[in-house]
Amino acid sequence: MVRKIAPSTDPVRSLEELVSYAKELEESADLLHVDVMDGEFVERETIGAREVRALRKNSLIPLDCHLMALSPDIEAFIEAGANIVTLHYEAMKKSKLISNLKKIRKAKVLAGVSIVPETEVGALKDILPYVDLILIMSVEPGKSGQKFLDTSTERVREAKLLVGDKRILIEVDGGITPEVSSSLFEAGADILVSGSYVYNARSRKEAIELLRNGK
Ligand code: DX5
Ligand code: ZN
Repeated sequence: MVRKIAPSTDPVRSLEELVSYAKELEESADLLHVDVMDGEFVERETIGAREVRALRKNSLIPLDCHLMALSPDIEAFIEAGANIVTLHYEAMKKSKLISNLKKIRKAKVLAGVSIVPETEVGALKDILPYVDLILIMSVEPGKSGQKFLDTSTERVREAKLLVGDKRILIEVDGGITPEVSSSLFEAGADILVSGSYVYNARSRKEAIELLRNGK
């Protein structure tokens, strides 16, 4: 199992810094996790497809777009060059979610579904045929810098059981540090997101290696 690390864009404050962050991470990280918030599904409003386009133009790092949004413009993110587009299970009706996921896959982009801490992992059972990735939130979506919810490791284990031998990646997002990264990988996670831990580290490269290997 490959242990992938995806630093998130949430702590970054300007487009210029975003592009330089992406370039800096190209060698040490596996993906850039792009946090898109619409001011409706979550309170804050952050970057959108325009920034994804700029990142794609200026960096080679794969772009993992986490859309915390009620009615995201899927096409815009696909056209902007996203490699993964993840939608929230709670953000739309199941029929809409499925048609959106189909649209993403049709464009040869990986389709993901995310659940907030209150949503049962089992709720995703009907969605599995349409996804390449499941994103388990280990904090409430909305901002970086929150504390990791300990119940998340068990949720990853549940997701791993649910997925079985299907080719579906498991990603975890929120409050992740080297103290919890190994147990998340051991529980079945393939990709761990990190906002503040990597962003604030003196050596981001070292922080990424610590997350990969655990403490
Ligand atoms: C939370 C975002 C996360 C966040 C992670 O709404 O989806 O991706 O940036 O940041 P940390 O690792 O600081 O919790
Ligand atoms: Zn995220």
